[in-house]
Amino acid sequence: MKKILVLPGDGIGRDVCDAALPVFDLLQLPVELHFGDIGWECWRRGGDPVPEETWRQIERSDAVLLGAITSKGKLEAEQELIPELQGKGLKYVSPVIQLRQRLELFANVRPARHLTGARKPFHCVVIRENTEGLYAGMDRKGIPASMSDWVRHPNIDRSGPDEAAISVRLQTRFGLERLFRYAFDYARDNGLDRVTFADKPNVLRDSGQFAADIFHAIAAGYPGIGADIQNVDAVALWLVRRPESFGVIVAENMYGDILSDLAAGVMGGLGVAPSANVGNRVCYFEPVHGSAPAMAGKDKANPAAMFLSIALLLRHLGFDEAAARIDAAVSQTIRAGRALTYDLGGNAGTAEMARAILQALRRPQALKRASILCIGDELLNGSVVNSNAAEIGKRLSAAGYAVGLQLSSPDQLPAIRAALDQCLGQSDLVVVNGGLGPTSDDLTRDGVAAALGLPLHFDAGSMAHIEQRLTGFGLAVNPQNRRQAMFPEGAAILPNANGTAPGFALDWQDRRILVLPGPPRECLPMLDASLPPAPARQDAPVRRWLLLGVIEADIADAVETCLRDAGQEAAVSYLWRYPHVEVSIRHDDDGEPAWLDAVETLLRPHLVSRDGASAVSQLASALAGRAWLLDSGITGADLGGLLPAPAAGDADPVRIRIDASRELAPPWQGVLSLSCQIDNGGQRNSYRLDVPHRGAEVADYVREFFAWSLLRSLNEAYSHTESEPA
Ligand code: NAI
Ligand code: MG
Repeated sequence: MKKILVLPGDGIGRDVCDAALPVFDLLQLPVELHFGDIGWECWRRGGDPVPEETWRQIERSDAVLLGAITSKGKLEAEQELIPELQGKGLKYVSPVIQLRQRLELFANVRPARHLTGARKPFHCVVIRENTEGLYAGMDRKGIPASMSDWVRHPNIDRSGPDEAAISVRLQTRFGLERLFRYAFDYARDNGLDRVTFADKPNVLRDSGQFAADIFHAIAAGYPGIGADIQNVDAVALWLVRRPESFGVIVAENMYGDILSDLAAGVMGGLGVAPSANVGNRVCYFEPVHGSAPAMAGKDKANPAAMFLSIALLLRHLGFDEAAARIDAAVSQTIRAGRALTYDLGGNAGTAEMARAILQALRRPQALKRASILCIGDELLNGSVVNSNAAEIGKRLSAAGYAVGLQLSSPDQLPAIRAALDQCLGQSDLVVVNGGLGPTSDDLTRDGVAAALGLPLHFDAGSMAHIEQRLTGFGLAVNPQNRRQAMFPEGAAILPNANGTAPGFALDWQDRRILVLPGPPRECLPMLDASLPPAPARQDAPVRRWLLLGVIEADIADAVETCLRDAGQEAAVSYLWRYPHVEVSIRHDDDGEPAWLDAVETLLRPHLVSRDGASAVSQLASALAGRAWLLDSGITGADLGGLLPAPAAGDADPVRIRIDASRELAPPWQGVLSLSCQIDNGGQRNSYRLDVPHRGAEVADYVREFFAWSLLRSLNEAYSHTESEPA
């Protein structure tokens, strides 16, 4: 049984602890949680932000989970002490510093993992030295005479030694060896193949050389891991532009401090950045953010950084699988784009986002995400309608993919590269389409190769096929055609039965990229042949209702009230497609959701179908074999055409009368009242609907209303029992 000491601390530290700690109940690990005090209240009431009892608890635990701690300036700290403690010369020392010193936590570890968004995925980590370097504490104003033969500078002569200050960057063999060893071990244990030491050896020449020699000596013990030394300023630049090029970045205290916040920013901000402080004894884990007092207790703070910090803690205790599940649940929640806090662009609160993460942990999503990238100037200027995007989208959805992004790019190398990066950042499968022709404006293969950093190779087999096809049609082979036989290294070539340009498939990290030619009759069969089998669909169940005669906004309000009252997680979407509104609700729990009855009761009076079928499309089969007599008072809407041929013999015909309050003609304004009476062997029904008299398209509304009325009348049960047409 491992003992975890939880110190929620101050401000939002408490909020995110409350929200995230239920993850331990869910994971059922052999760990026990203990709780202790730390932070501002401890200082105010006891004169030390880390009470002695807390130190004893720390010594007895295997790891510490910290929320956040409020620190304030010297003066304020003294003023806020309770009166009994004032004037006793108590000095506030930041708990974070106390913990680092007393527990000898020599490394601060800040992983930065790509969560979602328009950039190439990355996973790097900044490991910062925590005890020496420029923050070693040798920092003073005034230069004593004893140092004056070493601390020399023309500006000291100008200001005088008392009007100067110095800070010493301390580096020791002991400190550097354990830091670098830890960095390489971390790379090895976390599947990272590069360790970069960010320093400034060309300026800080002696200390830089000293550290570099130690770095190289340690690196020699890890032959499988690349080791390099880069200037810290260049690392900052490349961390912003290409975080995916880094693995472990290791640095002395101040450089590491700055780079680790930069990495947190690249990752998506304070709300998502976790950290670990490690040494050889008890280690502690905390979100990078502070106590954000203005937000405390307001159900606003993003709990993701706390979840990810718990994952780091669990990995440290050897629960790798549980840690990976938490990481995946956070990613899944953020990618799903629902239930996110304000800092991630959402409008959910701490509790709601935490619930969504816990739900994702219970129900990991096997659903794969796909994006579609169509390339060609003609798609953007409108000279060609992008039917491929729609067709490919349909096929991907049918195959079980969730299509999350569609992009169109002009035939420009930088645009293609950027668009592909964007797709890779948020999809498991990217289907690239178009721009594989032989001319110089066909840049797709170059763009894909450049985005992935792969060289292009010529494939003789494909060239032979291209030549054969062209000469078979009596066409000359142009030297330009050679371009169509160039493929990025490692690509699997996809044959094209209906055209010259072969496509190709590439695996990159855990993503798959399919690159297909543009003409629909070439690319669609190629897609069908090469679409990777979709994973078994574990998609959350979706319920749908196609409705008539309702206003989207009104129905949305009512549906959401039902869901809120049931207090269950479900995502609603509304699609208005004249004349219908379709409501879909995706819910995470198997079985009968608690809100279902209420929503059914609400929607049933407006229901047309549960599978998206219009009333018009259902009418023929519902009327088959029946005799009917139509008496229409409406001109300009061909209602007879909706009815099947009359059945033989008119023994007991269904008599239908439909009217409208006005002509289906301009002026298009005001209300059109529709009525339909149906006399069906003694049973009489009448239906009414008022619709906006908005334009010629009201004829569609009239037809749908007519069909819907008939359906409801023929199937008396239609509007209130389970036997509606599906
Ligand atoms: P902070 O990290 O507490 O807040 C800065 C801003 O970042 C907030 O106003 C908010 O806009 C945003 N933010 C932070 N965490 C967030 C989250 N989980 N979700 C959404 N947005 C979030 O830093 P600040 O304001 O500099 O310091 C406030 C207090 O926290 C101070 O007393 C400071 O000493 C302390 N602090 C403690 C740390 C620790 O416990 N290790 C680290 C940093 C600051
Ligand atoms: Mg910092």
